[in-house]
Amino acid sequence: MEQKIKLKFKQLFETEPIMYCAPGRVNLIGEHTDYNEGFVLPAAVDKLIVFAIKPNTIGKFRFFAFDLNEQFETEQNNITKSNVSWANYLLGVIAQFSKEECQVPTFDCVFGGNVPPGAGMSSSAAIEVGMAFAINDVFNFKRSRLQMTQFAQMAEHEYAGVNCGIMDQFASMHGKLNHVIKLDCRSLDYQYFPLNMEKYMLVLVNTGVKHSLASSEYNKRRNECEEGVRLIQKHDSQVRSLRDATLADLDAHKNEMSEVAFRRCSYVIEENERVEAACKALTESDFVAFGQLMYASHQGLSQKYEVSCAELDKLVTIAKSIDGVLGTRMMGGGFGGCTISLVEKQKVSNFENAIFANYKTPDGNKPDVFEVVIGDGARKL
Ligand code: GLA
Repeated sequence: MEQKIKLKFKQLFETEPIMYCAPGRVNLIGEHTDYNEGFVLPAAVDKLIVFAIKPNTIGKFRFFAFDLNEQFETEQNNITKSNVSWANYLLGVIAQFSKEECQVPTFDCVFGGNVPPGAGMSSSAAIEVGMAFAINDVFNFKRSRLQMTQFAQMAEHEYAGVNCGIMDQFASMHGKLNHVIKLDCRSLDYQYFPLNMEKYMLVLVNTGVKHSLASSEYNKRRNECEEGVRLIQKHDSQVRSLRDATLADLDAHKNEMSEVAFRRCSYVIEENERVEAACKALTESDFVAFGQLMYASHQGLSQKYEVSCAELDKLVTIAKSIDGVLGTRMMGGGFGGCTISLVEKQKVSNFENAIFANYKTPDGNKPDVFEVVIGDGARKL
C-alpha cells in the first residue's frame, strides 16, 4: 500500500515524497464516555492511512484521495469548509495549525489506506491524525503529540461537524504495539496496559451498515448528557460532568429530568465504572470477567444509550451463542460499523464460520471479519 501511494504521488507530482502513516483504532470498552470526561480503553491497530507529502511552490494545496480516485485543490489563503467531504479532514487540520500561528506552506499530498470507512474503526481520525503528524514534521512546527491530537479533534468538530470526544484521535496518535491505552479524558493522563493475550484474540465483525446516522444522533447524545449534568449541578456545583456523578446523585434527581436523559446518564456512569473494572480484570488476566463487562457494555449501549442497531444486536446475539466467545459488544459511535468480540484463540475459525453461517450484511454478503493486531500510533515511514 505504501508503495502504491508513493508511486501515485510520483506520477502526479513528479517528485519524491516524504511518507507518513496513522492507524485506525479499536476500543475494548468505555464507549461514549470520552466527551463525558470519563475513561476509555482503546488501542491503535495495524490498519493504516498512508500519506505521501511534499511542499510545493505554486501557492495551492493539492490533495489526491487514492481510494476514491478524486482530487481537490485550493489556494493557500482560502482554507474554509468545502463541500468535498473527504477534503474537510485535511483542510480542518491545516486550519488548526494556522490558528495556532503556524501558517502552513502549500504542499501536495496523496493519501489512502486500508482502514475501512464507516466501520467504526475511525478512518476519519486516522486521516486527521496522519495529516497533523505529517504537517508538523515536514514544516518542523514542533507541536507535541497531544497538541496534534487536539488539532485533529477540532478538525472533526469544525470541518466534519461531529462534536466527537478525544478518544479516536488520541489512540491513533499515541498507540503502542501490543498495548491498550487507559485514557482519562478529563486530565488526559494515560497509562499503557500490555495486552498479553496468549490464549485469546479480539475479532471485529463489520455489520456492513455504514454509520451514517451517527453524526446527528451523536451530537444529540452529547446534549442529553449535558441536560443531566445541568440538573445535577443545580444541587451540587462540584459536578462538572458525568464523570463526577454517581448513580445515587442521578437517582436523587430522577424526577427532575426527562426519562431519556436519565437513561443516557445512567449508562455513562455505569460504563465509566466498567472501564475501571475492566482494567482490573486485565491486570489480573481475568478474561472471563473482562468478557462479561463487554456484554454489559453492549446491553447499556443498546437499551439505555440507544446507539446500537438491529444488525449490531443480531451479531451480538449470534456471538453470544458461539462456543469460545467470552464477550462481545458494538464498538465506536454506533448505528452500524463493527462489533468487537473476545474469543479463545483456538476457536477463532469456528467463531468466524458460525458468524458467516448466521449473518449476512444488508446487501446479502458475507460480513468482513478482522482479527485485531495492535500496532503503533502515527509515525514517519
Ligand atoms: C466516536 C467518537 C469518539 C467516541 C466514540 C464513542 O468514535 O469519535 O470520540 O465518543 O464515538 O465511544
